[in-house]
Amino acid sequence: MAVDLLLGLQWGDEGKGKIVDVLTKNYDIIARFQGGPNAGHTLEFDGIKHVLHTIPSGIFHDNAINIVGNGVVIDPVIFKKELDNLKKFNLDIKSKLFISRKAHLILPTHRLLDAASEAAKGKAKIGSTLKGIGPTYMDKTGRNGMRVGDLELDNWQDKYRALANKHEGMIDYYDVDLQYDLKDLEAEFYKGVEELKKLDFIDSEEYLFQEQRKGKKILAEGAQGSLLDIDFGTYPYVTSSNTTAAGACTGLGVAPNQIGKVFGIFKAYATRVGSGPFPTELFDEDGETMGRVGNEFGATTGRPRRCGWLDIVALKYAVQINGVTDLMMMKGDVLSGFKTLKICTAYNYKGKEITHLPFNIEPENVTPIYTEVKGWDEDLTQMSSNGQLPETLNAYINFLEKELEVPIKIVSVGPDRTQTIHR
Ligand code: IMP
Repeated sequence: MAVDLLLGLQWGDEGKGKIVDVLTKNYDIIARFQGGPNAGHTLEFDGIKHVLHTIPSGIFHDNAINIVGNGVVIDPVIFKKELDNLKKFNLDIKSKLFISRKAHLILPTHRLLDAASEAAKGKAKIGSTLKGIGPTYMDKTGRNGMRVGDLELDNWQDKYRALANKHEGMIDYYDVDLQYDLKDLEAEFYKGVEELKKLDFIDSEEYLFQEQRKGKKILAEGAQGSLLDIDFGTYPYVTSSNTTAAGACTGLGVAPNQIGKVFGIFKAYATRVGSGPFPTELFDEDGETMGRVGNEFGATTGRPRRCGWLDIVALKYAVQINGVTDLMMMKGDVLSGFKTLKICTAYNYKGKEITHLPFNIEPENVTPIYTEVKGWDEDLTQMSSNGQLPETLNAYINFLEKELEVPIKIVSVGPDRTQTIHR
């Protein structure tokens, strides 16, 4: 039985949480493979809207076990808040949620280092969510990090102290005005650790291997998007993990030959939050409409998202790197009412027309070349079957399928679980 993957193909916020929630009925295990509380996975059902940051999006289903994999970074403070917010749902969390011993911990000083690093960068800042993601992954690859399994040791607090002391020296080095009371932050951290320790820590790679052998169906859930991948994204304006398909292998310990379907999620337009190049970004009324109708505000930080037309050049690149087998198009409903839609099908790169993503997509090098297609007026949000979709939306979908050479299997027409059309 293969492990299926689900990941975002743009700059994050594609709607992965909703689709994992929709697909969970078909799986026994949902496993997050990278990222941390920089993610905000929004789920809507029964009139409730819920945002998850670290906990996998299958948590609301009785049939599924949820795993936080080794590739994830966990902030015990935020994790505790997530658990507190789930209390009202009366879920049996202890028997449904397991944590990899090899996942790394975000310390309060990692968050401070993130803030200090961004402040020191000035105008060149990444636009980080300031959740400590970069510094935690730096400690992981620098072989200094603290892992969940360390919390099972009697002397874990010594290890914590040594690392936090080192971080304090590094914060001083940045020489920026950062006000903080480490005692308060540490008290919160210790409380979070106590909550985390109530859950079962597991050797998740072994668990997944054995469950897979028993025939259990596993879905690996990604966070952020392919264009934020540390290797293949718009570096340095990226996150610090591999958000692409290979990240599921390293982030869960799943062998490449065990990967089955790769579900690629994208919006019918494009958004980006934080700094960095975005060739099809709009600064006009159309962009403003997408933001307003699409409610484009970060689920983690509340920041307004930058909006623009769909970029097929970037999307093709993401489909290729991830080996996407099934596409899922989100938020087609947001485009209702646009007379004409633009799709970027090539770039003018330093005077030449190209159809692949070059090393540098800064605006001085790249101008998008657009194909214009007819829009649709119909309200899609009440539609429930493929046959109801307007002709011009079908033409839009067919155009994308032809360009991307992968079928679009789901068209989402609203945030609720039920507003999902299978094709
Ligand atoms: P960091 O991962 O918090 O350091 O942020 C690095 C960049 O990735 C910033 O531009 C963030 O806005 C962006 N980013 C991080 N996580 C997400 C996400 O879940 N959705 C969208 N953008 C994100």
